[in-house]
Amino acid sequence: MTYEVFAPAKINLTLHVTGQRADGYHLLDSLVAFASIGDRLRFAEDGALSIAVTGSFADGVPTDQRNLVWRAAKQANIATHITLEKNLPHGAGIGGGSADAAAVLRYAGVTTGAAALGADVPVCLASRVQRMCGIGDELTPLAPLPPVWAVLVNPQIHLPTPDVFAALPNKINAAMPPSLPHFRDTVTLIDWLSQMRNDLEKAAISLAPEIAQVLSALADVDGAGLARMSGSGATCFGLFSEAQAADAAQRDLARCHPRWWVQACQLS
Ligand code: C5P
Repeated sequence: MTYEVFAPAKINLTLHVTGQRADGYHLLDSLVAFASIGDRLRFAEDGALSIAVTGSFADGVPTDQRNLVWRAAKQANIATHITLEKNLPHGAGIGGGSADAAAVLRYAGVTTGAAALGADVPVCLASRVQRMCGIGDELTPLAPLPPVWAVLVNPQIHLPTPDVFAALPNKINAAMPPSLPHFRDTVTLIDWLSQMRNDLEKAAISLAPEIAQVLSALADVDGAGLARMSGSGATCFGLFSEAQAADAAQRDLARCHPRWWVQACQLS
């Protein structure tokens, strides 16, 4: 018997950095959504922990304790063969290893200890729209988003999260409003998001200037309501109110920028 668990990409629709703790970790205020695309984990009950990696981003993914999937499996006390289908770029600001680790915990029915695996693992456990505060550990579930589509673009650049935080000149920035509005439709959502920020965007661009090109290509595409970076980058997203517009944007961007990873999806 094989069980399959989906590990959707995590998208920070906003990411405000509001402070820094004495231990160096940053305080965040983020509206986090999840994509209809992601990695897939298959669990075969054969009594010993082992990992095989397949998929378009399998190259260089470790199959031992360096992989968060391994550490999550040990923590959850599961001993099975796991096939990890890596469809998402890693070190890319869209969850990656955190989403995979959360999928292991979901499979095992374990909901504690997620934060010990990484700051983004708790939000990936529920994989539904949430407001994320603290260092990623204070989570508030939100009402479902109105229908909204995204095109994700990664210029095939790997950006280590600590480097991006270190390049951030101002660690104390305004939070989002204390209570978020009700988003009655997609236009209202995108308009409101446009007034918010990803505070890591400029820092990431200072390390990888091509991110600015990605953002301007996404902003220029027909029907794009907003272009922003997710997490610490380098993946950026454009938002759309129609699936067809997102699909057309994917085709155009992939044609003009054959080196970029370009993927349309729905967010929820
Ligand atoms: O927890 P995780 O290993 O995913 O975090 C990677 C790095 O990102 C941390 O070592 C830290 O440098 C930075 N980080 C941070 N503040 C957060 C989350 C991550 O400074 N809230």
